[in-house]
Amino acid sequence: MKDISIGIIGGTGGMGRIFADLFRREGYICLVSGRKRGPDITTMAEQCQVIIVSVPIGITAEVIEQVGPLMKKDALLMDLTSLKTEPIKAMLQSSPAEVIGLHPLFGPGVASIAGYTICICPARGERWIAWVRGIFTKHGAILIETTPERHDELMSLVQALNHLNSITMGMVLSAWGVDLAELRRFATPMFNTKLAIIKEVFTNNPRLYAEIITLSPHIGRIIELYGRALSELETLTKERDAEAFTALMEKRSLWRA
Ligand SMILES: NC(=O)c1ccc[n+]([C@@H]2O[C@H](COP(=O)([O-])OP(=O)(O)OC[C@H]3O[C@@H](n4cnc5c(N)ncnc54)[C@H](OP(=O)(O)O)[C@@H]3O)[C@@H](O)[C@H]2O)c1
Repeated sequence: MKDISIGIIGGTGGMGRIFADLFRREGYICLVSGRKRGPDITTMAEQCQVIIVSVPIGITAEVIEQVGPLMKKDALLMDLTSLKTEPIKAMLQSSPAEVIGLHPLFGPGVASIAGYTICICPARGERWIAWVRGIFTKHGAILIETTPERHDELMSLVQALNHLNSITMGMVLSAWGVDLAELRRFATPMFNTKLAIIKEVFTNNPRLYAEIITLSPHIGRIIELYGRALSELETLTKERDAEAFTALMEKRSLWRA
């Protein structure tokens, strides 16, 4: 199957580049495009049997709707989007091609995919799935397969809640008006770890984090539970009631016996 060509729309970006390198190392022809570089969508669809969409979440469905109808039934359409329900729906609706949703559970900073997890949502067809599993397994990735809905529910915790929490803490630190250099001199190891995460979220592709949160189908429930937890804790801090605070933590702990 080495004679197949792979096109990555958004392949000039962080995640697209990782997968373009991997496919090229495997001996495949891999075309990449960005807004101003690379082949246009029609050329991609004509020349490539496999198309991967790796553009910002908010424009993913639009790009899929452009490329999907141009693809053949025996081709493969995939995406790398951090959310899966909407992109997979768009791929199934707009294209006759086989459809597999992917979500690499790592960022563009990794040296290789070895040891990292890729979530796979097979959606249509049998022809390509073994090839997809084979190539990522060969490069040492851990594959987990699930439905788009379950993926998005779990990612609302792993990503939306997680990043919301980092952004909230970053906003409090900023509102306090504290000097960062002074804060760093007084930092504990745990605080340093958190600060590094907050810096990453605020400075490296903030739009990605904003889209992961705002476009999560479960964000309403996350915000409601977050607000409820904060207001319960607020009451106990106003009462300066450490005993009740501890009891609440024990009652709500994921690790309770
Ligand atoms: N970053 C992560 O940690 C991570 C992890 C897992 C999955 N993902 C997913 O991977 C996808 C890409 O994320 P990324 O971090 O690689 O983003 P990125 O570095 O910002 O790259 C985005 C790519 O999309 C292209 N693009 C932007 N607007 C476009 C438009 N209107 N039409 C066509 N192409 C456009 C960009 O091209 P130019 O800038 O060259 O014009 C670039 O190639 C997203 O769906 C994201 O959810 C990201």
